[in-house]
Amino acid sequence: MTSPAEGAGSRPLLVRDLAQVAAPAGLSSPLRGGDLGKVEVLEDAYVLCERGRISAVGAMRELGSLPGEVDELDGRALSAVPGLVDCHTHACFAGDRVEEFSLRAAGASYEELHAAGGGILSTVRATREAGEAGLAGTLDLHLSWMLRAGTTTFEAKSGYGLDRETELAQLRVVRDAGGIPTFLGAHTVPPEFAHTGAAAYVDFLVSEVLPEAAQLAEAADVFLERGAFGVDDARRYLEACRSAGLALRLHGDQFTEAGGIPLAIELGARSVDHLESTGARGIAALAASEVVGVLLPASALFLDRPMPPARALVDAGAAIALATDFNPGSAFCESLPLVTSLACTKLGLSPAEALAACTVNAAHVLARADRKGRVARGFDADFVLLAADDWRYLAYHLAGPVVHTVIRDGRVVWTGAA
Ligand code: NIG
Ligand code: FE
Repeated sequence: MTSPAEGAGSRPLLVRDLAQVAAPAGLSSPLRGGDLGKVEVLEDAYVLCERGRISAVGAMRELGSLPGEVDELDGRALSAVPGLVDCHTHACFAGDRVEEFSLRAAGASYEELHAAGGGILSTVRATREAGEAGLAGTLDLHLSWMLRAGTTTFEAKSGYGLDRETELAQLRVVRDAGGIPTFLGAHTVPPEFAHTGAAAYVDFLVSEVLPEAAQLAEAADVFLERGAFGVDDARRYLEACRSAGLALRLHGDQFTEAGGIPLAIELGARSVDHLESTGARGIAALAASEVVGVLLPASALFLDRPMPPARALVDAGAAIALATDFNPGSAFCESLPLVTSLACTKLGLSPAEALAACTVNAAHVLARADRKGRVARGFDADFVLLAADDWRYLAYHLAGPVVHTVIRDGRVVWTGAA
């Protein structure tokens, strides 16, 4: 037996004697209503990984002898959950907004700072200056934080370039770091188009940036909000992106109900994200649709905004996912475990619902639910060992050191074990 941290990765990895293996039940996605809260828990269990996939999961008493050399990891007093899937981040940015954070603490609002040319545009200035190599370096740092918080699959958006060169650089950097890139050219109108306006900027995005962006990204996203893009410009941008082969996402109902849910449904978007301002009609419409509502409670907390109506959405039958929204302005937070804590304390979800929302349902938003988000035979061998014998510590230990070891593609990629 050799230490898995040193293992070549080609040998099978057996994680044995786990107190629990917990994962959303069944194999379907997205999970809705009562199904969202169904987690299967195996006690005194093992997980066997071969060639990057999970080849078996079961009770220790059923574990037969394994032929050939196998790396082993002692799972005693630990519990395993699926690798966490962060389906909404802006992790590819340069600079910070710590000064803005201080101003907000003294009473300035996020929207006021945005309207005054700060906010997103201050990160645009830093991101343009960083250059592609600089951006790759900062994304690497951010990914190291995300990994130690248990994130094994991540999406990241462009949207801090707002010019051809930097938008494409952001998408390349995300792709090269193993992420799932989303083209958020329509994040806000850059200074170059301040006088011609949002419609002229959308024309530029569609004709000059989209053809190449569509080769790099999997989806497109737009910030549909007062002070950013209205419904007509958002529709034109998203329709062009869809024609170029991209899946569609929207930032909607963050500050106002500006038509994000109806537009997402009309266009068959994968998701509409934020929903802090969504009312009863939006909840009913989303519940009757295939669009997933991606909820970002760390952003609501960071901006001291109302929380999204998660309980009402789930009870109405809507599919929801949870994500961090990791970015320097509205959610400087890379921790999905913290997001699950907020889901249980502020959104009225159970630990089981929170787990499904940032594993199976988040993987569904990224069109990867057939191989990510579950600890099940045939799935990618991505899972997190929690430093507790009850998996619910994921949400229970508020901002605690709950992640013990992270396994991705059947290999230990991070461990805090001594
Ligand atoms: O999801 N609201 C728009 N975009 C991001 C914030 C980006 C920023 O402030 O830099 C969000 O909250
Ligand atoms: Fe966002």
